Amino acid sequence: MASNSPSRSYITTPLYYVNARPHLGHSYTTLLADVIARYRKQRGLQVTFLTGTDEHGEKIEQMAKSQNRDVREFVDEVSQDFRTTWEKMDLKFDIFYRTTDENHVKQVQHALQTLKDKGEIVFREYEGNYCVGCERFLTDNEVTATGLCPDHQKKPEPRKEANYFFLMSRYQQQLIDHYEKNSNAIRPEHYRQEVLSFLKQPLADLCISRPKTRLTWGIELPFDSHFVTYVWFDALLNYLVATGWSGPNWDKSLWETTNHLIAKDILKAHAIYWPTMLLALGAPLFSEIHASGYWLVDGTKMSKSLGNVIRPLEIEERFGRETPRFYLLREMSYGQDSTFTLEGYVNAINAYLANGIGNLASRVLTLCQKNFKGEFAPSSLIEIDHVVLAKRETTLTAWNHGFDELKYQNALKAWSELVTATDLYVNENKPWALAKDPAQAERLQTVLGVCLRLLQALAVIAYPVLPQASRALLAALGIEADPASSTSLALENRSLFHVSAEVPKLFLRVQLPVTEPAAP
Ligand code: MSP
Repeated sequence: MASNSPSRSYITTPLYYVNARPHLGHSYTTLLADVIARYRKQRGLQVTFLTGTDEHGEKIEQMAKSQNRDVREFVDEVSQDFRTTWEKMDLKFDIFYRTTDENHVKQVQHALQTLKDKGEIVFREYEGNYCVGCERFLTDNEVTATGLCPDHQKKPEPRKEANYFFLMSRYQQQLIDHYEKNSNAIRPEHYRQEVLSFLKQPLADLCISRPKTRLTWGIELPFDSHFVTYVWFDALLNYLVATGWSGPNWDKSLWETTNHLIAKDILKAHAIYWPTMLLALGAPLFSEIHASGYWLVDGTKMSKSLGNVIRPLEIEERFGRETPRFYLLREMSYGQDSTFTLEGYVNAINAYLANGIGNLASRVLTLCQKNFKGEFAPSSLIEIDHVVLAKRETTLTAWNHGFDELKYQNALKAWSELVTATDLYVNENKPWALAKDPAQAERLQTVLGVCLRLLQALAVIAYPVLPQASRALLAALGIEADPASSTSLALENRSLFHVSAEVPKLFLRVQLPVTEPAAP
């Protein structure tokens, strides 16, 4: 990270709609936010991590009604489901935001009134094709050749009604200038180009109201009680309101470090609607948007409406703690779509975690126990020891580079290469053979000491992705220092290790269930 980076960081995930229970697609963004938050904290930044739920709008009202449920009770239940899922997955958010909170409602109404008073909102008739799944009007360019919404595979409904419009088009040029000047404002780069090319077309104004005759589950417009606010206008404001806007204690300096994590489905709302709202309100723009591609199952986006969902907690319970964190980051090339397969999952867990770090740690720690009762000091390093130890630094550099460039896959590859290099070092130096020759006692101490230093580095580097495994491994090495603290990254050369008597099982080999042959 550059030396002039801010000392604070505000990381947000989208607020998830409560019409669906959390699935692996939602988990990817939330666990990535957790990984980035831990990564930045480990580098001394003060991080605020926000996630939460988006609870108004037509599709939520429809979903609750289709189940004969009271809408408020329904949203409370699903919102809690999101919260509990993230807590069980050890995702350490600082703010869990709900758009049905009283303060949010008050601030959205304040924003609407401010914009109305400034002449940024007008009343107009509108006709278009509305996708309830997207909760927005789709243009002709956005539908498929057969006229379907590409994400929901449904035909948008034609609608004509009088509504309030936010004069978004006024900000088109300012937005183009901003994105042209700030190459990191939308990452990866191809999404910035996509937004800039979209902005070459004239920008339409944004319809920000829904008549109560059609929808009541929303925030009432402060200047017209016959309407509620369009759900996106309501929800996007969460990011700003959570920093204390528009009160006297608005934490503007935190707001200015904002890093929105999203997937490409909501790029337009975040890269176009949202900044124009901020410009109209006179608030600074967010710092960066990071957009991922989709997790696909059987070639289509995983989503509740398509019925092909994988549940994060089920996967974690079945294949082991922290395995979704590792697999999802290792498998997805950030910004591109990736396909989730159980075979791929099982192979990755076995290859890199169970047979990789898990097996390496248990091999080395068992040898330490056997030979020195858990305590020893490495000394008199020779050339091959220095060579392998130097790989710690190069791994950390590659890891940091991966994070800076949003190439998490590369970061994890570099880390796995250090596991392999350590394994190779063990194989070449044969500590089990050294142990048989009393004249080699000192060399044995050194070889195992080098391995322990390498394991320490592997644990510290992996901390943002595998926090619990990192802590368990450090504890087994007898190291009390917290991997979450920035001092742990100094990759010290310890001269004495007190290895614990118990060899931890970091990751177990997993298997796909075998279909039983039918009984004869
Ligand atoms: N409520 C809006 C966001 C409002 S933010 C102010 C919304 N909610 S959502 O529940 O549909 O969540 C969309 C987000 O969930 C995506 O942008 C992404 O972060 C995550 N994902 C949901 N399904 C996904 C995949 N299949 N793959 C990757 N991420 C996915 O849109």
